[in-house]
Amino acid sequence: MCGIVGYIGGRQAAPILLEGLHRLEYRGYDSAGIAVPHRGRLKVTKAAVRVEELRGLVGDGHPAQLGIAHTRWATHGEPSDVNAHPHVDAEGRIAVVHNGIIENAEALRAKLTAGGVEFASETDTEALAHLIAARLADGAESLEDAVRAALHEVEGAYGLVVLDARDPHELVVARNGSPIVLGIGDGEMFVASDLAALVRHTQRVVYLDDGELATLRAGDYRTSTLQARRTDKLPTEVELTDADYGLDGYADYMRKEIAEQPESVRRALLGRLDERFATARLGGLRLDARELRSIRRVKFLGCGSAYYAGQIGANLVEELARLPADAEPASEFRYRNPVVDGDTLYVAVSQSGETADTLAAVQELARKGGRVIGMVNAVGSAIARECGSGVFLHAGPEVSVASTKAVTNMSTCFAMLALLLGRVRDLSVADGRRVVEALDALPARIQEVVADEEHIAEAARRFADARHMFFVGRVRGWPVAREGAQKLKEISYVHAEAYQAGELKHGPIALIDRSMPSVVIVPDDELLAKNIGTIEQIKARGGPVLAVTNAELPRGLADVELRVPRTEPELDPILFGIPLQLLAYHLAKQLGRDIDKPRNLAKSVTVE
Ligand code: F6R
Repeated sequence: MCGIVGYIGGRQAAPILLEGLHRLEYRGYDSAGIAVPHRGRLKVTKAAVRVEELRGLVGDGHPAQLGIAHTRWATHGEPSDVNAHPHVDAEGRIAVVHNGIIENAEALRAKLTAGGVEFASETDTEALAHLIAARLADGAESLEDAVRAALHEVEGAYGLVVLDARDPHELVVARNGSPIVLGIGDGEMFVASDLAALVRHTQRVVYLDDGELATLRAGDYRTSTLQARRTDKLPTEVELTDADYGLDGYADYMRKEIAEQPESVRRALLGRLDERFATARLGGLRLDARELRSIRRVKFLGCGSAYYAGQIGANLVEELARLPADAEPASEFRYRNPVVDGDTLYVAVSQSGETADTLAAVQELARKGGRVIGMVNAVGSAIARECGSGVFLHAGPEVSVASTKAVTNMSTCFAMLALLLGRVRDLSVADGRRVVEALDALPARIQEVVADEEHIAEAARRFADARHMFFVGRVRGWPVAREGAQKLKEISYVHAEAYQAGELKHGPIALIDRSMPSVVIVPDDELLAKNIGTIEQIKARGGPVLAVTNAELPRGLADVELRVPRTEPELDPILFGIPLQLLAYHLAKQLGRDIDKPRNLAKSVTVE
């Protein structure tokens, strides 16, 4: 959410910052800006434009060898030129780029205004620039001291970078709740809110922890706590390179990431299936067989699509391990004073590993002594580090705001967790083997769905006029329907609602008519007859039906069928999600939507 980049070294900063912003644009795209020092003052270019347009506004006019830049997703104040970052103090000396929310911004603003400061914007961030300038004016010995003193007055979440135009030899950065990564180059230093902006330049990185500051100079960096205690962080090497963030000839990242799923699922499975004992090997859990057997209940916590995936996970655990399991939005869990039970395994699910609500749920669990593991894609992220143990999703970087391959990898990893929990209980070798073999074959089955794209695109064209759609599923199909509706809403802005098939007749069926198509999830399982009944109820009211199925349906029952290959029934939800991703994609394309930058959204929600 919002993207930050900073550079200090021997090269011109502006092109590096703009390229970094381009890589981070998926984190927010309301507005963008850049600040560099120029003859003791700041040169700031910012506007409510996309990065490409900012590049045009910046031109060649920023020769400095250090600078900071930002791409915004609005929280305080509408997207506008003045509300764009960087924000500066009254003298035009201090520039700040900031991700997160300053919760006592109003109080700070009132105090500063009473002292004669005039604000230019409506943002919470501007208060930080004035506050840091005030601490320098009070005699703080260094920019770092001024930032530290200012942050002692601040409540809320931040990842920030600060530049003093009068001392253009260093940048000060700080983190509390919003990610900050330092990139270590040869005689140059980078900082960003996300690896995507760094890996073009370096693979040596330092992740700042909450409550940590760093001062960057061209050749070195120093880290310390808010209490001024040195932390001496050592760099780690990341495997990602710039190529991992390329479009590879695809029109958009969502399409590319959908196509990558056979490979990303293969990576999730790699080395984790144990054919001999018909189980899964998940060493990162750090739980031995006795500890696994002591688990009495499993609860998945995540937000948005990660929560829907968690519902798939809960079904898998109940089916394969016969343990009670459920999923809950982390955003609810964190606020409802949950009963934390020592026999429950809590599973925090997140692609980014930075989602504020999921992180807060993990922290609440830690405070109450809950046993929590992470199922996270981003290695080194806050949730992964806070959990300490878990299973990495290995989906690779996901750039598209609408999550696809990470969600599929989540369900795949949940299936392995369920298998492991089942095999230390009463799941038979034969059933374990059946699931292992089906998981092993999953990448090939996914490839078959992806290869059926033209047929799915045709279905999307047929329903492109719909303004409302139902997504209907039962038991295994229910979270699939929820995720399908979510994908469609996000990128096409078509109103889509998911219902449990059996609930339709208790009210929502009143909405069915010729203009309200229903996408019905119809696996060939023990509920097939029930799902056929649901389709008949919809058809009887004139509603068009698109069935997603691996069953032989009565001829002419559905208006359109999207065929899904067979796997073991427990794994159906993993495969059934993929045509729905492609359906949403092609419907949004038909409507001319900006697939990778849907309105009002941003990747990775690091605010409440
Ligand atoms: C939907 C989507 C969001 C995320 C949610 C959680 O396509 O991407 O609903 O799933 O914001 O994000 P993570 O998984 O990063 O915690």
